[in-house]
Amino acid sequence: MTAADHRSGSSSGIRTFEPARLHFGGDYNPEHWPEEVWAEDIRLMKEAGVTMVTAGIFSWGLVEPRPGSYDFGWFDRVMGHLGDAGIQVCLATMTASPPPWLSRQHPEILPETADGVRKWPGSRQHYCPSSPVYRTRAVRLVEQLATRYAEHPALALWHIGNEYGCSNPVCYCEVSAADFRRWLRERYGTVEALNAAWSTTFWSQRYGDFEEVLPPRTAPTHANPTQQLDYARFSDDALLQCYLAEREVLRRITPDVPVTTNHMPHHKPVDPFRWAAYEDVTALDYYQEPYDSETHIDAAAAFDVTRCAGGGRPWLLMEQAPGAVNWRARNSPKPPGAMRLWSWQAVAQGADAVLYFQWRQSQGGAEKFHSAMVPHAGTDTRIFREVSALGQELATVPQLAGTRCSSEVALLADWNSWWALEQGSHPSSALSHRETLLRHYRPFFDAGVPCDIVPPDRALSGYRLVVVPNLYLMSEETAERLTAYVRDGGHLFVSYFTGIADECDRVHLGGYPAPLREVLGLRVEEFWPLDEGARVLLRGELSGQADLWSEAIDLEGARAVATFGDGELTGRPALTRHAFGDGMAWYAGTRPEPGVMRTLMDRVREEACAAPLLADLPPGVQATAREGGDGRYLFLLNHGETAATVTLPHLARNLLDPGAEPAAAVTLPGRGVAVLSAP
Ligand code: GLA
Repeated sequence: MTAADHRSGSSSGIRTFEPARLHFGGDYNPEHWPEEVWAEDIRLMKEAGVTMVTAGIFSWGLVEPRPGSYDFGWFDRVMGHLGDAGIQVCLATMTASPPPWLSRQHPEILPETADGVRKWPGSRQHYCPSSPVYRTRAVRLVEQLATRYAEHPALALWHIGNEYGCSNPVCYCEVSAADFRRWLRERYGTVEALNAAWSTTFWSQRYGDFEEVLPPRTAPTHANPTQQLDYARFSDDALLQCYLAEREVLRRITPDVPVTTNHMPHHKPVDPFRWAAYEDVTALDYYQEPYDSETHIDAAAAFDVTRCAGGGRPWLLMEQAPGAVNWRARNSPKPPGAMRLWSWQAVAQGADAVLYFQWRQSQGGAEKFHSAMVPHAGTDTRIFREVSALGQELATVPQLAGTRCSSEVALLADWNSWWALEQGSHPSSALSHRETLLRHYRPFFDAGVPCDIVPPDRALSGYRLVVVPNLYLMSEETAERLTAYVRDGGHLFVSYFTGIADECDRVHLGGYPAPLREVLGLRVEEFWPLDEGARVLLRGELSGQADLWSEAIDLEGARAVATFGDGELTGRPALTRHAFGDGMAWYAGTRPEPGVMRTLMDRVREEACAAPLLADLPPGVQATAREGGDGRYLFLLNHGETAATVTLPHLARNLLDPGAEPAAAVTLPGRGVAVLSAP
């Protein structure tokens, strides 16, 4: 079967990537090695169960050694070997690292910092995302590639760019400044509209002409907040335009081949929800931190974002490390079993591919100490054995491919709000989008309740509970949708400093959070952020401690579930509950400590009838389900280091232990995994 057999048709106008089994493989950089090694690569790939590689990511300089002069001969041979071996290729567009001749010829493609410092070539991604020269040269290369490999039997999927915005998320050069002004003209039409949106009467910033506008370069003090917000939007868009320029070529030349790009997790500069509209399958690179005992929870949230960005369709784990990375201060290998466990975690949360960076560990260059599927020491190694065992194991469960996860709980996340939230000049500089999201995600993860993480414009009616961690920026329209959701019977949980400002970062007037006051049944009169390390007591139906934030709440129909037990706000509401329409709206005016948060969230979701997948899940065990193709599969992942027994509501068979009889309980060793076929 060729790669083309796995592509779905495009008659519906939608190209999907629907592999017949879970893919396994990684980044393949054969150009690092003499050709004699390639035959061994293919042999070992087959031994390890590799079904797909991502090739060519950093090959621009080799396939176009001089401007306009192409040398694809060596790459033809790579594609040929892979195709002959039945290994599919996720073909990179090769544009992530421009060759030295390009920046020599056109130094204006180099990005600049907010201080006007030029970033030089010598690593990678040394281009300004707005550069027309970069985009033109990239597109020219992609035309060559697409034309050359359009009919190649190994071509399964296009991999555009690589980790957009990893090293060049934002550029402040003159080219970017001009592009920003163009972008602003399109957004606002007139300079008067821009002035109104940016509140430029403040500090005498009023513009007479778009030509006066600059990127928010280093200034004496706080730059205009809306200018900063728009620059984040613009910078994300500039990267997206690079992606779209290449995608347009691919659509034209290879209309049936799906396209994707690999995102980074919790990556502030790039909005994965927005980009997903232009991706046929979503893809994520995730590098667990073995020194962090909660790395799997951070990963879980990133996996959910990736799946939900793609509308719930299966996604690709495009990169992970087989062992250690090389870019943290101290780089731990993955202890035995951890790589398998974390790979299965991606599948458990909806991935249809487990891929790594990279196939063979580099001998030289900046990533020579980054682990790879074939380590420096060769195949008689723990890493190669673990990798191969996983490759064989994934091959045994083709029925999992294409199945989907579902959730009754949604957390809202919004990159626009993130960009606005973490600017200076706010009541507290300690609010972090990522940390707050995880604090709200964790109680559901620990309880074994699957969650979706979705942007605010998603349909909410299918969820029993919607959690809004801290959407500082919120449009009237979103607030109205949340209000209608509760009126119609939904359960909503909102935390502090949400619904404060509109899309232009102007405060919604009339008592915070003005557009949510009706549904929450309260008014916040004053913010009272807590000092670093300070704690405040909570008293009432829930008691314990909270930190980070407090605020002066007046009830307007809501009931206090807990009040502040000490400090300036003693006796005033801290946690509230408001019966509204047919639903319920909860509000937290502070950050409860994790134990209190868990109790609170358990209660909120019990009232919403959002149940865990399994009752009495042992601590440290993650449970998820995937469904489809007449099957339902329950995944159990023991993130702890000691054995844990999970009681099942029915007899089930562990697909990863084919010899075992169906049983009503499963004992997972430390870092153990089971995939149960549920009736
Ligand atoms: C990123 C990049 C890869 C490689 C890995 C190393 O994910 O996409 O090219 O540098 O990091 O961890």
